[in-house]
Amino acid sequence: MTSAVGQMALQLRGVSRVYQQASSPELEVLRDVDLDVRSAEFVALIGPSGCGKSTLLGLIAGLDAPTRGEIDVGHMDDLNAGVAYMPQRDLLLPWRSLVDNVILGAELRGENRHAARRRALRLLPEFGLEGFGDALPRTLSGGMRQRAALLRTIMLDRPTLLLDEPFGALDALTRAAMQEWLLGIWRRRSAAVLLVTHDVEEAVWLSDRVYVMTSRPGSVKLEVNVGLPRPRGHEVRRDPGFVEAKHRILDALLAEDVQS
Ligand SMILES: Nc1ncnc2c1ncn2[C@@H]1O[C@H](COP(=O)(O)OP(=O)(O)OP(=O)(O)O)[C@@H](O)[C@H]1O
Ligand SMILES: [Mg+2]
Repeated sequence: MTSAVGQMALQLRGVSRVYQQASSPELEVLRDVDLDVRSAEFVALIGPSGCGKSTLLGLIAGLDAPTRGEIDVGHMDDLNAGVAYMPQRDLLLPWRSLVDNVILGAELRGENRHAARRRALRLLPEFGLEGFGDALPRTLSGGMRQRAALLRTIMLDRPTLLLDEPFGALDALTRAAMQEWLLGIWRRRSAAVLLVTHDVEEAVWLSDRVYVMTSRPGSVKLEVNVGLPRPRGHEVRRDPGFVEAKHRILDALLAEDVQS
């Protein structure tokens, strides 16, 4: 994960997804989405519930194919697609210990199990999980489960991370701590990040740019450059540039219909 800033990590042009349904009319979920993420850039994607954010991440991860449009994921080689994807639910396997969950992706792509375990155990402290390698998921807190899912994503060692509401289920304090910690990971690894969130403040505080989507069919409605220097302390939240970015995003979101 050591690519120069400025190179393109991800490029979407005119991406649309229409689902054909057996007994009801077709469902247009995404319409003509254009979106870029440069290497080492932190980008947030925000939009009304049901507008197609998770669908879009699934398309980028290659789990589904667009009906129309182009998705270009940089850094492709034979073994590794360019992205690591953390789905909206943590999907930890209940019968596997934390560390065995964490190495799942590495194992599936053929990495030696013992080597993967050693690598994961070395990373546990950085993820605040030291001493919990043998714990089963049901014995972990929500924050620990999310950090484990994030570690599993990072273990794939890809230059681009797709994170779908990684802090969705957390209280405000744990969430703030996790945001800081994610920024640390991002800085150290120079990864490109595309993060889905519902939290406008989180989007602005973390990101270089924020894309706001329309209601379904989702398309990009607004792109906001957050030109605030890093590292950002919590006082940045009172900066006029921060407040302005937040209000532009909120106004764009509030103008959309609420969907079921
Ligand atoms: N495989 C599928 N077949 C049919 N419809 C689908 C499929 N996957 C997603 N959808 C529909 O696409 C729409 C968008 O779903 P998606 O999960 O992408 O929204 P979202 O923006 O991530 O919402 P949330 O913010 O609530 O997570 C929904 O109406 C959903 O029912
Ligand atoms: Mg979603």
